[in-house]
Order: sequence, then C-alpha cells, then structure tokens
Amino acid sequence: MKKLTLIILLIFIGIQFVPMDVPADVPSKAEDAIQAPENVQAILKRSCFDCHSNHTTYPWYSHVAPVSWFTKGHVKEGREKMNFSTWAGYDDEKKLKYLEKIPKAIKSKMPLPTYLIMHQDAKLSDADKKVLEDWATEAAFDLE
Ligand code: HEC
Repeated sequence: MKKLTLIILLIFIGIQFVPMDVPADVPSKAEDAIQAPENVQAILKRSCFDCHSNHTTYPWYSHVAPVSWFTKGHVKEGREKMNFSTWAGYDDEKKLKYLEKIPKAIKSKMPLPTYLIMHQDAKLSDADKKVLEDWATEAAFDLE
C-alpha cells in the first residue's frame, strides 16, 4: 500500500512537468462585448464567461496538472467556438447560429459538468435557464 501511494505521488509530481499554461486574459474593447439586458449579462458572466470570454478567472488548482490540461482545452475551445468578448464583431449569420444553439446547449451540456464540480455557483437554476432561453429566442427573432 505504501509503495502504491509513493508511485501515485511520483506520477503526480511527474505530470507537473508537462506544459500546462492556461490561456491568458486577452485585452478587448468594451464595445466588442455582447450587449444584453443586465439580468442576462449577470448569468452569462457567472456561468459562461470563464470559457466563452477573453477574461477567465482561474482558481489556484486550475494551474495544477491534470486539472490544468482540462482547463486549457476548455477555455481554448470555448473561446474559439463562441466568444462573448468579441460578439459584436460577429456577422448576423454567426450570431444567429449561436443564439439558436444556446437554448439547446444549456439543456444538455453547458456549463460543462466537469466545470460544475468545482463551480457550484455557476450551475443554472431553472429560472436562469428560462431567462437565457427567452433572451436568446428573442434576440434571434430580432436578427431575422
Ligand atoms: C468550462 C468551460 C465552459 C463553460 C463554463 C461554458 N462552456 Fe459552452 N462550450 C465549452 C466548450 C469547450 C465548447 C465546445 C465544445 C462543445 O461544443 O462541447 C462549448 C460550446 C458551446 C456552444 C456551442 C455548441 C455547439 O454545438 O456548437 C454553446 C452555444 C455554448 N457552449 C454555450 C454556453 C453557455 C450559454 C454557457 C453558460 C451558461 C457555457 N457555454 C458555459 C466550454 C464551456
């Protein structure tokens, strides 16, 4: 048993040497960010911005492997997919595409379940989901 603990400890130390820099903050202009009613903004900020904006708040353990590997991938991929910090620069077609995907995404996989383990406060309540859904539907309607 002692040997196994030592092996696990050594593996844990070893993986810390695998490069793990998480995506840095990217400066962005306020006017490029998404415009939405205050209650919608508050939910997006709390539950989505860590992966879908240029400004991620990293807890200390997000720098420690293997959590850092997930974190790096999630933030990189999340920003590439849909970035609320550069939303105003998207053309209408792209905005529409994401607005139509948001209701589906929050029903199934967003925020990512692995993220919610350590970010309970980011969990969407039924009321939050309704606010986001109504907003996305209405905003999509306005674009069409
Ligand atoms: C922990 C990181 C993380 C958080 C937090 C997060 N997302 Fe995501 N999101 C991702 C990643 C990674 C992808 C791309 C991979 C995928 O589609 O599963 C993604 C993709 C999406 C997509 C595109 C789905 C598609 O099919 O193209 C939508 C829409 C989305 N997220 C909405 C949200 C909303 C709304 C929130 C907040 C309620 C949120 N996400 C919170 C990481 C995150």
